[in-house]
Amino acid sequence: MFKNNPIKLIKYYNLINHNLIYNNKAINRYKKDNFEISESKTKNLDLLRRAILNQKNCDLKKYAKNIVFSDGNPKSKIMLVGEAPGASEDQEGLPFVGRAGVLLDKMLAAIKLDRKKVYISNIINYRPPENRRPTDSEIEQYLPFITKHIEIIEPKILVLLGSTAMNAIIGKDLVISKMRGKWINKKFGNCRTSVIITFHPAFLMRQPAQKKMAWIDLKMIRDKKESLKI
Ligand code: URA
Repeated sequence: MFKNNPIKLIKYYNLINHNLIYNNKAINRYKKDNFEISESKTKNLDLLRRAILNQKNCDLKKYAKNIVFSDGNPKSKIMLVGEAPGASEDQEGLPFVGRAGVLLDKMLAAIKLDRKKVYISNIINYRPPENRRPTDSEIEQYLPFITKHIEIIEPKILVLLGSTAMNAIIGKDLVISKMRGKWINKKFGNCRTSVIITFHPAFLMRQPAQKKMAWIDLKMIRDKKESLKI
């Protein structure tokens, strides 16, 4: 019915209270690691995951092994968004578990964060073949999903990793070297958040000289976290 409009589908499910119809209780897929979250957040994350899984017109899905939805703590007030899964992520069904993920974990550790303290997702939920960059139309197709994902998580700090995430969420013609290291206030539904753009860890592996700029951004995140008391 709403096959081309996942957000309408989610609203529709909410409207008909599908949980009462299909099951008595939402399955809490996010309970692992004791991340007890509210039933409505669990339900909305589950609906979103299902809306992505149920897409009919997505070529990426045909080649991918797994959906890569998220990792980390859904209760966290800090959300990170990357570009798209690579081979390791596709294999494991989790974001940032390959080489870029190792560097991301080190970047987080440098400001005393880890995956249990943040929530991580990507603009695109399926691996593009040969790890190519997602096309404009793929980004357009997945943008409503990541936007809804942010709305559900309600982060106070949103970290966009790399230019694909920046161009998708903040603006198409922006250049990362000019945009990184600045706070941008943005609203996603009812969620008001402070957005910061920084370099993608895969880029930093290719251009290690830029790590000093990423360190400036990481310190800004650490300071914001302290000033917001999160
Ligand atoms: N690069 C990304 O942008 N996301 C991942 O999950 C892995 C690598």
